[in-house]
Amino acid sequence: MLLQWAPLLTLVLSAIAEPGQKPLPEASNETPLLPESVSSELLYLHRTLVEISSITRNEEKVGKWLASYLRDKNFTVELQEVAPQRYNVLAYGKKRDTTILLSSHIDTVPPYWPYYYNKTTDIIGGRGSVDAKGSVAAQIIATLGFKDQLQDDISLLFVVGEEVDGAGMRAFSDWAKRPEYEIVIFGEPTEGKLVCGHKGIMHPTLKAIGKAAHSGYPWLGVSANDILIEALERLVVLREHLPWSEKYGNTTVNFGRIEGGVAANVVAETAEASLAMRLAAGSPKEIVELVERALKDVISDAKELGGSLEVSWKNEGYGPININCDIEGFDKITVNYGTDVPHLKGDYKRYLYGPGTIFVAHSDHEALKRLELEQAVLDYRRLVIAASKMEHQENIDM
Ligand SMILES: *[C@@H]1O[C@H](CO)[C@@H](O)[C@H](O)[C@H]1NC(C)=O
Ligand SMILES: *[C@@H]1O[C@H](CO)[C@@H](O)[C@H](O)[C@H]1NC(C)=O
Ligand SMILES: *[C@@H]1O[C@H](CO)[C@@H](O)[C@H](O)[C@H]1NC(C)=O
Repeated sequence: MLLQWAPLLTLVLSAIAEPGQKPLPEASNETPLLPESVSSELLYLHRTLVEISSITRNEEKVGKWLASYLRDKNFTVELQEVAPQRYNVLAYGKKRDTTILLSSHIDTVPPYWPYYYNKTTDIIGGRGSVDAKGSVAAQIIATLGFKDQLQDDISLLFVVGEEVDGAGMRAFSDWAKRPEYEIVIFGEPTEGKLVCGHKGIMHPTLKAIGKAAHSGYPWLGVSANDILIEALERLVVLREHLPWSEKYGNTTVNFGRIEGGVAANVVAETAEASLAMRLAAGSPKEIVELVERALKDVISDAKELGGSLEVSWKNEGYGPININCDIEGFDKITVNYGTDVPHLKGDYKRYLYGPGTIFVAHSDHEALKRLELEQAVLDYRRLVIAASKMEHQENIDM
């Protein structure tokens, strides 16, 4: 009923608006890319996902809502328990073994920021709106738009824990019951571009142990802070000599967290530094060797003084990850952030694409434009079609 009267209402409104009067704030005049009903479904799905807070380790609520949404759309849904109250969501149509997998993550970084949609600017924001619920929503809507035959050859996987350690994708990768896919399209904010690869990452932690003493008599103790400072100095020098590549640029080292000692007038007993190394070239093994060589003297000097320095690695890490980007009609980039791509083992063609930019992803102004979301739906469809055509030239009947 309301809809029928809408044109008339507009006429009436424009008739009473006098010349020179300030116009009502208009909805954005950018032409939608999707039909009205598809666009509003996309916005509804995206909004609900963002409104449910899902900071890493608290993904249960959003996962369960998503599972029920997908069941309502007639997908078969399986929840894989990764840890108590933490579930990956796997959805598929008529068959479980599909050629294509679309995947993204449902956890976000803290803190929670509420959803908003500014209709004047057409900007949609809130925690996770970009990273990565924009990808999640666009992948689902893209899949729903396919005819049965192609839709039934697509699985959807939404994992937990991407923002911390990739626990969800690692668990899925190791899951004995999981199918092997031929094409996997990962969703992360890539500005609507196709990513040809990303840097590797390693997380070393340096731990220095000394012996506490009164700062008036420092020779009675061993300063863990002194040991750590020496070690960090070597790494600042090493940083300029780490492997690099044309494709990814320089390997970078961030001394993200440093702490040591208890007070200015006490010789520090312990000190610790946590680093993030973004690998532009080389393997984790090579990097471990370079770091160990750089710290060799500091380690033996510390031992001689009665203290110690130990290097540990949060996990084995990985070198640069090359990703397929052999599809025409997309802008192409490389990125410096880590993803779940290396955590899904196997021999498959992999793509990485998603709406929104990483530069706002973890910030308090995380947001994207409605058109970016809509474009992502079209682009995921293009990607699926192009990738599967290359894979099975003859089998696809659109
Ligand atoms: C799901 O399947 C039921 C039964 O076949 C059908 O009536 C319904 O329209 C389907 N729903 C969607 C969203 O396709
Ligand atoms: C939407 O954005 C415009 C332009 O930045 C701003 O003036 C307006 O207050 C915003 N509207 C809401 C509801 O936040
Ligand atoms: C890499 O490091 C070198 C030497 O520090 C610097 O001159 C160069 O600009 C860096 N390259 C990039 C892409 O940042």
